[in-house]
Amino acid sequence: MATTSSFIANLPPLPKVEGTEPDRCVLDLFRTAIAERVANALPPLTIEQVYNGVDYGKKGVDFTIALPRFRLPLKPDELAGKVLSGFQPDEWIENIVLDKAFLHFTCRTSTLTRLILTQIHDLTHNTASGSPEYGTNSLGKGKKVVIEYSSPNIAKSFHVGHLRSTIIGAFLANLYKACGWDVVSLNYLGDWGTQFGLIAVGFEKYGSQEELEKDAIKHLLDIYVKVNADAEKDPNVKVEAAKFFKRMEDGDESALVNWRNWRELSVKKYAEEYDRLNVHFDHYVGESLVGKEWQDKAIERLEEMSLIEDHEGAKLVNLEKWKMGRAVLRKKDGTSIYLTRDIGGAIERYEKYKFDKMIYVVSSQQDLHLSQFFKILKLMEFPWADTLEHVNYGLVQGMSTRRGTVVFLDQIIKEAASVMHDQMKKNEAKYTAIEDPEYVAQEVGISGVKIQDMAAKRINNYTFNWDRMLSFEGDTGPYLQYAHVRLASIGRKNPELLPLPAPAAINTDLLIEPSAREIAFLIGTYPDVVKTALRTHEPSGVVTFAFRLSHAISSAWETVIVKGETDLEKARARLWLYTSAQEVLGAAMRLLSLRPLERM
Ligand code: ARG
Repeated sequence: MATTSSFIANLPPLPKVEGTEPDRCVLDLFRTAIAERVANALPPLTIEQVYNGVDYGKKGVDFTIALPRFRLPLKPDELAGKVLSGFQPDEWIENIVLDKAFLHFTCRTSTLTRLILTQIHDLTHNTASGSPEYGTNSLGKGKKVVIEYSSPNIAKSFHVGHLRSTIIGAFLANLYKACGWDVVSLNYLGDWGTQFGLIAVGFEKYGSQEELEKDAIKHLLDIYVKVNADAEKDPNVKVEAAKFFKRMEDGDESALVNWRNWRELSVKKYAEEYDRLNVHFDHYVGESLVGKEWQDKAIERLEEMSLIEDHEGAKLVNLEKWKMGRAVLRKKDGTSIYLTRDIGGAIERYEKYKFDKMIYVVSSQQDLHLSQFFKILKLMEFPWADTLEHVNYGLVQGMSTRRGTVVFLDQIIKEAASVMHDQMKKNEAKYTAIEDPEYVAQEVGISGVKIQDMAAKRINNYTFNWDRMLSFEGDTGPYLQYAHVRLASIGRKNPELLPLPAPAAINTDLLIEPSAREIAFLIGTYPDVVKTALRTHEPSGVVTFAFRLSHAISSAWETVIVKGETDLEKARARLWLYTSAQEVLGAAMRLLSLRPLERM
């Protein structure tokens, strides 16, 4: 951090405000400078109080304070008068303007640009971890979060709901890491339940080890579909299946061998596909691994609380009091069910990880299920039950490939790659210049799918549209990749400017164009974008940021030129600005689990 702090040392000193992290976000210093002035002018306000009231301004304004929020006895213009009367511009604040009840502040451009670019440089190249850290913070220091996402069912189709969970979950895992949390990521496979009794019955008739090794996920689903059709015609199939599942639950080794093999091969196949999506899990857990004892204890405890009702031999929990209906916890034959496994599973996870927070990324279709099991854990008086959080999301309509309905994750990836490939071929000149079109098509295609998914608030439903999401025009994944590639190419196209000198030797005062300042300010806000996302669990804020930045860059191309700029000092300052912008755009894309491309 040597360079950023040496610049700060030469500026008017500022107090330290609790909760700020200026060595991660230099805009904290400008907010502090504003807060200090306003607090001095308006006793008895403290710097902290004012600081919390410093907001980003509307377009063209850096920061704004809404004076009425402080609830002081004077009128806004009297308050403003006190702030403005003694105002002397300094190296932090250049100007203050009163606009109705608002005070608008403009930061000193030279300080702003200098500090932001230097901090990005420091946190990209001179970090203790060796990897880029700009945008990160230490909010979660010493805390552990368990995040469960994706969680498809073995032998059933991987639907868009699972895709959304995968995409949003991967983002959250990256986000919590960026905020200093210790993250444990889990994939909770639907690898248990009566459907495995069905598969076992079906496997005897339709199974093939060879097919299984080739593509376990596909083969098991084939069997599942066939045996379900059999079960429609012959009620015995279901009886056999239930018997078989009972043997599995009782731990009968001969009933478990095949199942274990199916699970293992499915996980292997999934892991490859997650890899292509740039999504990772610390552990593949699953419903099968949830211990029985905690499920039993849960039922015992609920019985003590008189919340259990017997219904023809099955056990129901009555949550009517909380408007959560009645739910089965144990079937007549004693086998467990989804809800009970979730209860036991949560308890085990707490025993194992002692988490400070646990997040379930699951479709809003399961809102009731999640609230039921959270409620039951609360009734069991686990103090950590309050730390459980359901991150939900809306439905996706109309996802199909050109060949039909999507049932597998690899179909989604293949279709994205192939639609993208066709899209790219439309521009022949560009297409022939691409080194590895297959790879680029896949990466860009995946970016399109992900960005479409994260562009709006989670809870919104949306319609899957290959053409729209894979277009280079409009706010799409391909557009972001393109913006990143374009930034990456400036250095390559101007080799005479490289390597750039050390930050201190670059004259940032030459960055005078309004569009250059806009880029600098925007990339300065990125650490705040990350913090907001942590609070809302919404990837859309990060997506919006990435587009705003891409648009700001694209409007700067014409005026803030590098190629053709004869003043080399100026050209270098501009190249540094673009390189910093590339770093921040790349960081935002990585946070969203994209792999930013250097060329395409
Ligand atoms: N496997 C489930 C499904 O596909 C999703 C699991 C969600 N997580 C949980 N802990 N219940 O519907």
